[in-house]
Amino acid sequence: MSDGPVRAGLSDTSSEDGIEQCMHLTPQDHLFVLTGAGISAESGLATFRGSGGLWNGHRVEQVATPEAWQADRELVWRFYSQRRRDASEAEPNAAHYALAKIELELGDRFYLCTQNVDDLHERAGSQRVHHMHGSLYESRCVRCDEPFADKALYETAMSLPVCEACRAAVRPHIVWFGETPLEMETIYRTLNRATVLLVVGTSGSVYPAAGLVHIANQQRTRTVYVGPEEPLNHEAFHEILLGTATEVLPSLFR
Ligand code: OAD
Repeated sequence: MSDGPVRAGLSDTSSEDGIEQCMHLTPQDHLFVLTGAGISAESGLATFRGSGGLWNGHRVEQVATPEAWQADRELVWRFYSQRRRDASEAEPNAAHYALAKIELELGDRFYLCTQNVDDLHERAGSQRVHHMHGSLYESRCVRCDEPFADKALYETAMSLPVCEACRAAVRPHIVWFGETPLEMETIYRTLNRATVLLVVGTSGSVYPAAGLVHIANQQRTRTVYVGPEEPLNHEAFHEILLGTATEVLPSLFR
């Protein structure tokens, strides 16, 4: 887009604590929301590229790949066990609740696609949630390929899980780098119906999620980004609302 995005656009209304940004939706609007690690940051969950993006000295890319799994299953399971523990100790924040609330009003005109593997959206009450990068609380046998609910922690070589049916290794039901995100067809179909794309707390660095804004632009969907800093793909957005998710979302649809 040649003119670049408008910062803090939409309509500004005064409030006791300063300026609030409001987005007005009509009964014809269909809202597609894409969230990233930033929406869970204020729940205490680390983002990927914040704080150096390191986990115990490893880059996330070194533990979230099929190559890492082949090289060191114990390391990979320790990483995801820690994340299971962290996420289960975290609580949804005001931004998760704000999205659940707007979903109540919009019903089927709302769709939430998240790159996050935590369950904070569901725990805030969201129902139409698609986890495009998989779910922290599911695992699957590498041979049977069927995901199943699993909240267990596997932190030693002795405790690594195997499939009860075929004895093959069980892995986290997470989409790793180099793998295809889940149900992309549904995502594209739903985005195609959207009149507004709201993207919250993602660095815009991982595709295909980072490319959804370009598809939205091609079909003239209004595109809005919310986060404390501009994402890598900032030029593609019509509007950028600078602020944290809990600062912006609760009053966004007022
Ligand atoms: P990143 O860690 O790349 O980006 C987090 C974004 O959240 C940054 O742009 C921050 O500015 C923003 N942010 C930080 N605090 C925020 C707050 N309080 N409110 C709103 N935004 C805030 O995380 P993602 O973009 O989600 O993939 O990463 C995308 C994918 O890369 C992840 O799903 C994961 C990762 O590797 C896989 O594991 C496959």
